[in-house]
Amino acid sequence: MIHRNHHAWPLKLAIALVLLGLGIDAWAHAKLVRSNPAARAVVSRAPAQIELWFSEKLEPAYSSVELRDGLGGVIHTENATTVPTNPKQLVVKLPPLPDGQYVLKYRVLSVDGHVVNSQFHFTVDTTRR
Ligand code: CU
Repeated sequence: MIHRNHHAWPLKLAIALVLLGLGIDAWAHAKLVRSNPAARAVVSRAPAQIELWFSEKLEPAYSSVELRDGLGGVIHTENATTVPTNPKQLVVKLPPLPDGQYVLKYRVLSVDGHVVNSQFHFTVDTTRR
């Protein structure tokens, strides 16, 4: 019995180290903190731009977004740029958007060298005013 407990230790330690390692790595990545429009939001006015706030500073040259409409068609936008006063904030100006659902995919490189890919959707519905 003593032996069994003894051998469980390295395993527990290994699991703890793995969990700790994952935690630190996740923290270092540029996670989306919030956005405007917010994820899953239904907005009654078409946004002129999309703003994304991340947990880490971004490399703007390697950070991009892609907006698609409900049919999967790519909406032509200007390139996403970081805000001069906030390197954690990404902004992309939009053309006039008709009512409908949109999917914003983003791919950002944080200064720690990690790439994060994700997406969210929002809906423009001017009849909901
Ligand atoms: Cu990272």
